[in-house]
Amino acid sequence: MTQRANFLWGSATSSYQIEGAVSEDGRTPSIWDTFCATPGTVADGDTGAVACDHYHRMPEDVAIMADLGLDVYRFSLAWPRVQPDGTGGGNPAGIAFYDRLVDELLARGIRPWVTLYHWDLPQALEDAGGWPNRDTAYRFADYAAIAYDALGDRVSQWTTLNEPWCSAILGYMSGEHAPGRQDARAAMAAVHHLLLGHGLAVRAIRDRAEAAGRAADLEVGITLNLSPKLPAGESSADLAAARWEDGLSNRLYLDPLLRGRYPADIAGKLDELGCPLPIRDGDLPLIAQPLDVLGVNYYSSQVVEAAPTGQNGWPGSVTLRRDVPRTAMDWEVTPGALTDLLLRLEREYPGPAWYITENGAAYADVPDQTGYVDDAERTDFLRAHIDATLEARDLGANVRGYFAWSLLDNFEWSFGYDRRFGIVRVDYDTLERTPKRSARYFAERVAAEKKAA
Ligand code: NOJ
Repeated sequence: MTQRANFLWGSATSSYQIEGAVSEDGRTPSIWDTFCATPGTVADGDTGAVACDHYHRMPEDVAIMADLGLDVYRFSLAWPRVQPDGTGGGNPAGIAFYDRLVDELLARGIRPWVTLYHWDLPQALEDAGGWPNRDTAYRFADYAAIAYDALGDRVSQWTTLNEPWCSAILGYMSGEHAPGRQDARAAMAAVHHLLLGHGLAVRAIRDRAEAAGRAADLEVGITLNLSPKLPAGESSADLAAARWEDGLSNRLYLDPLLRGRYPADIAGKLDELGCPLPIRDGDLPLIAQPLDVLGVNYYSSQVVEAAPTGQNGWPGSVTLRRDVPRTAMDWEVTPGALTDLLLRLEREYPGPAWYITENGAAYADVPDQTGYVDDAERTDFLRAHIDATLEARDLGANVRGYFAWSLLDNFEWSFGYDRRFGIVRVDYDTLERTPKRSARYFAERVAAEKKAA
């Protein structure tokens, strides 16, 4: 079949953002439960305790996906459900939920795509040092093995980590996300240990798939949030600022994963700043395990301008505000940069299949009396970014699928329920689901693209 015919259309969610049921069937607290319970961390004191109550409404949600005609559904497993406290054996009652979800998807003809880590680290592992502690990487590989043993007979698409930049930088440097630490040295240790955990998990999954005779179908990878950083002008200072920001956000992950080495300019500067990557012999080949898939979460690009060096010695830059439309997150709408990004990936990091594992937008939705949202802006956003993705494919990027973020309105981390990304509205009082205009558009577009393929 051609690449066109194989293209996968899906939607994505994550465990803490939709499941609720945080104390059921043996689930232990994650760092997000703890973070939400800390006053001042999340808007309006919101928590994921109920979220979309997907844990109890899963069949209804899968039925919505089937109505939309999705090929594939990307969801994450809650580590503290599958392996409470992050050590020891699996928790059958927690795993049973994902068994039911996978079976329900398959019964509806929807392919399950599992993400192992979408930010809900068992709190017990954070208490033991979290991602800055090297041991967490080994714990992650053990958890990956448990998950693969439970679901690998029916799931062939596996993503290790979702957006390790967010886990490390928002979690341990800026403190905007759980666990809310502000320690640059710890953050850089987290970067390395997340990537090491990824490599160990890929190896564990591939070994198991081979032993079970399932390696031919396996597609394993990682998802990065890649954000193009464009220089404001042509001065050497602006070019250096854009290169540094691109290095910290993009190359620091892409290079070790796909080239087996950290970018020398960034690693050298981190050493100077007293925040070294704690690399040991043998780590880099482990991190650079062959990847079938590199997932790209794309939301926006930024224009950066040089600024004076910060007090802490970190190179300075400011993000310019361009005169372009913005979403409710204040993110610039820049679909053209997605085409450029995919072409750059194909040129500079050839090898894996690229999937847009997330793309979408928050807007201030206004429901009518029936709960229907006529979300013209989100619809336009999806249209423009699907066009941009397919343009990159037609120009030669090996891009194989597109997932809309998100299926449902959900818990948007430190913004709580205040920012809605769903193509399906969730009424948080009644938990009723209502597809928005964007969902109708997406369903029609998917059907049209499949017909044309
Ligand atoms: C990326 C994250 O993976 C997801 O959890 C989040 O909701 C979206 N970005 C929107 O911010």
